[in-house]
Amino acid sequence: MEVVIVPDAKAGGELVARGIADLLRHKPHALLGVATGSTPLPVYEALAALARTGRADMSQVRIAQLDEYVGLPSGHPESYRSVLLREVVGPLGLSPEAFMGPDGTAVDLPTACAAYDSALAEAGGVDLQLLGIGTDGHIGFNEPCSSLASRTRIKTLTQQTLADNARFFDGDVDQVPQHVITQGIGTILEARHLVLLATGKGKAEAVASAVEGPVAAVCPASALQMHPHATVVVDEAAAGGLRLAGYFRHAYANKPEWQGL
Ligand code: F6R
Repeated sequence: MEVVIVPDAKAGGELVARGIADLLRHKPHALLGVATGSTPLPVYEALAALARTGRADMSQVRIAQLDEYVGLPSGHPESYRSVLLREVVGPLGLSPEAFMGPDGTAVDLPTACAAYDSALAEAGGVDLQLLGIGTDGHIGFNEPCSSLASRTRIKTLTQQTLADNARFFDGDVDQVPQHVITQGIGTILEARHLVLLATGKGKAEAVASAVEGPVAAVCPASALQMHPHATVVVDEAAAGGLRLAGYFRHAYANKPEWQGL
């Protein structure tokens, strides 16, 4: 696992966007796994700026959604599909056909979950999966004590996540759906490169557990320790709990340029 400490969220977004642009230079039709929430927004903004100035070729990229609320009507502005259409597909000029995601409105949810796992595999697997981290250590919506081998399935959000996400629903926790579909931890670990971005003091404890704690289902993000190519990009505030911050800074400062992100 590589840990990169950047000054702030904007720098983190730019670093990750440059990494995605590099991937697309080598593999223009890459399947990019995209997360929602506040954290990845600077990545999408930086990527759109690279595309506008001809430094990222988004013409063949395909994108895959990480998770989705269950039960929001199709087209609800806070469904993750709507958010990604608004924040990623539109600004990057992608065609909606290049976008795949789980169906949170399906009548038969277990079948929809299994179908999404199969669709990801049939699409050749995710090349780079962008992840945020919950204050309780979740990745995707794999809440604490999710199986580290889990596949795409339905989960129930913790009270902490419901409270964290109420800001997207007029501050009303009762409007946040209790249930979600999320790629499982086992599914996420199949992506070829995992890039977790965390910004702000509120993420410091979860980041420290994920990076320096034991691999344990109680901190789902700690599963990244088992992945052969995982990059954790944190701003100074989110790095606040890392014991090995000095080493991570030293390693990154001396990283050979050819290694890329
Ligand atoms: C959403 C997702 C979640 C978020 C996490 C952090 O697609 O995967 O794991 O990344 O809840 O959310 P923010 O970035 O809003 O703090």
